[in-house]
Amino acid sequence: MNIETIGIVGAGQMGNGIAHVMALAGYEVLMTDVSQDALDKAMEVMRRNLERQVSREKISQADMTGALSRIDTTLSLTDLGRSDLIIEAATERETVKQAIFEDLIPHLKPETILTSNTSSISITRLASRTDRPEKFMGFHFMNPVPVMSLVELIRGIATDKETYDACLQVVERLGKTAASAEDFPGFIVNRILMPMINEAVYTLYEGVGNVRSIDQSMKLGANHPMGPLELADFIGLDTCLAIMNVLHDGLADTKYRPCPLLTKYVEAGWLGRKAGRGFYDYR
Ligand code: CAA
Repeated sequence: MNIETIGIVGAGQMGNGIAHVMALAGYEVLMTDVSQDALDKAMEVMRRNLERQVSREKISQADMTGALSRIDTTLSLTDLGRSDLIIEAATERETVKQAIFEDLIPHLKPETILTSNTSSISITRLASRTDRPEKFMGFHFMNPVPVMSLVELIRGIATDKETYDACLQVVERLGKTAASAEDFPGFIVNRILMPMINEAVYTLYEGVGNVRSIDQSMKLGANHPMGPLELADFIGLDTCLAIMNVLHDGLADTKYRPCPLLTKYVEAGWLGRKAGRGFYDYR
């Protein structure tokens, strides 16, 4: 099927990053969220990130103007009815995602592909509660979306080949690389990344190192662009904890036990960069 119009649900860090790269690749984008304030902020963030790319000569001024002109925002899910592909990038809570799909489905064309940017919720389970499990799959971007070249494509048990191939074509048009992952907890990236971050928190918890020495060790000793604690702050400690819980529950292995210190930070509201405080203080 020919995909030209992409509906994005959620204008947060992931949603606005996805809208940014889709519009730059020439797609028409319809982005929705629950408040006008969230949509206005998202447009502002996209403008800033596009300007950054212009100033570094990654894209031209005309690319930026064109991209912004292809993004429409709306407060009404109904307006997403003309989309060929939906990417849900709302809060990482299953009930929220389910409610969005329920509200959206009556307005969609029968051939529209439904996808979720979920980082860990079962695609098969989300799909089973829609009217089109064969046209449902995981479309998982990495943060920051304009910079990271990987997209995980996750097939649910019922996803058909036509749907997978159509999403693969979109990833290729973005100039990104797709990794195909089976639908098991954490897929590929978070199955590997989150236990590493969790282990870094254990290393801190047990006093093996401090925040700076742990991060410096992994940056200079393993050539990671960010240390694991800095990365946890960047992703959001609540997201890290939620993913560890999905791994722990779904794989039933104590090696995925979330570090009590990670839980404590989340309970304190020290959620990382977005909260102004996590392992580092951003205030
Ligand atoms: N939009 C556009 N461009 C951006 C950007 C954004 N939001 N953020 C950074 N950039 C660009 C910068 O302009 C810069 O461009 P040039 O190379 O042309 O100079 C480049 O990216 C590097 O940025 P900076 O110089 O500002 O900073 P940096 O070198 O420290 O890189 C980083 C920043 C790209 C974030 C890097 O630290 C990094 O790769 N960190 C690891 C990120 C990571 O692991 N992400 C995955 C998280 S896991 C996930 O997302 C999955 C999940 O489900 C939780």
